[in-house]
Amino acid sequence: MNIAVAQSGGPTCAINASLVGVYKEALKTPQIDAIFGSINGIEGIINDALIDLKTVIKTNDDMELLRQTPSTVLGSCRYKIPDNDEEIYQRIKECFDRHNIEAFFYIGGNDSMDTVEKLSRYLKEIGSGTKVIGIPKTIDNDLCITDHTPGFGSAAKYVATTVQEIIRDSSVYSIPSVTVVEIMGRHAGWLAASTCVLRANDEIAPHLIYLPECNFTVKQFLADVKAQMAKHKAVIVVVSEGVEIPEHEAEGSYQSGAVDNFGHKYLSGVGKLLEQIVSREIGCKVRSIELNVMQRCSAHICSKTDIDESESIGAAGVRAALSGETGKVMVFNRISDVPYVVDISCVAATEIANKEKKFPKEWITALENDVNENAFRYFLPLIQGEVKIRMKNGMPVHFKLNK
Ligand code: F6P
Repeated sequence: MNIAVAQSGGPTCAINASLVGVYKEALKTPQIDAIFGSINGIEGIINDALIDLKTVIKTNDDMELLRQTPSTVLGSCRYKIPDNDEEIYQRIKECFDRHNIEAFFYIGGNDSMDTVEKLSRYLKEIGSGTKVIGIPKTIDNDLCITDHTPGFGSAAKYVATTVQEIIRDSSVYSIPSVTVVEIMGRHAGWLAASTCVLRANDEIAPHLIYLPECNFTVKQFLADVKAQMAKHKAVIVVVSEGVEIPEHEAEGSYQSGAVDNFGHKYLSGVGKLLEQIVSREIGCKVRSIELNVMQRCSAHICSKTDIDESESIGAAGVRAALSGETGKVMVFNRISDVPYVVDISCVAATEIANKEKKFPKEWITALENDVNENAFRYFLPLIQGEVKIRMKNGMPVHFKLNK
């Protein structure tokens, strides 16, 4: 039998580690012959754009380098399979038949699991034996059922490290200041909330953390900032990109209004808006910093725990397909925080596709401007360990398909 693997959705530091997990496990499996990589996610299957991975990932050294290379080596897509477009399904089926693909692994987030669900259902209905397995990933950490998602721990480690550097930078002057850091996460505040781990290193900041799960008002925000300014010279505010400002109409439109194929709005600009509000209403030195895409591909400070787990969950996906599973997504189950122990199992893709797991309300403080101890205990294990990154000329080396 042959297999195919594809990567989908927004980049992370760990998607290639999951690809390596699939690849290595397939190499050790005698019944698997060719291992195809699909270019740009499911679009590569629809358009028959496949590459034989054995011709590009040739040595252990290649695998090691790919494992620590951020983003998606095969490219990505944000493509939603139309519900009733028979032709698309037929093209996928033809591609699988043409290349004897008996198992397909889709590494992606909640939108990509929609593809896993629809495709596996279609293949079952037409009597095809090809198995479809989802391997989770997203820096947003918003997939249901799984304890956390591959890619999240590395993004959390980067944002905490960067916020710590911002704290040092912003505290040098004698004048009062406010620094607003905008962090990705779409409609879930996990990544912004994860900056609380800095308290493990005796940082008091971030002084305020705002999540999309909180009720945000400009009035309360200004009161919170003023209260923190009374105690701290340099106030650090973390805001998740998905926080909605009910009064934002008064500020003019701060978002582009553009949407992706799944209808998701491009979220960006809430930090800048809060900067303008602080400048106008408080009048102190204020700066906003949007971490933007840097937080997705910051492999130089990735979490070893995340990279190791991402490889393991890819390998587990291959074993699940070989044992007959289809239409399933691999998930982590946390057994304990200290010592940190997880195991891997799989659940029906319907449990995860198109759903969002929000940050728990019980982990948000009463004033809705910070998170509590439960969050801290949950996040800390996910950022542990460092990967020794290969360097050249003083810069990290990345694996590239066209060397
Ligand atoms: O993949 C998740 C994510 O990184 C979100 O945090 C963010 O809102 C979105 O993707 C950005 O999408 P794009 O990569 O299409 O700009």
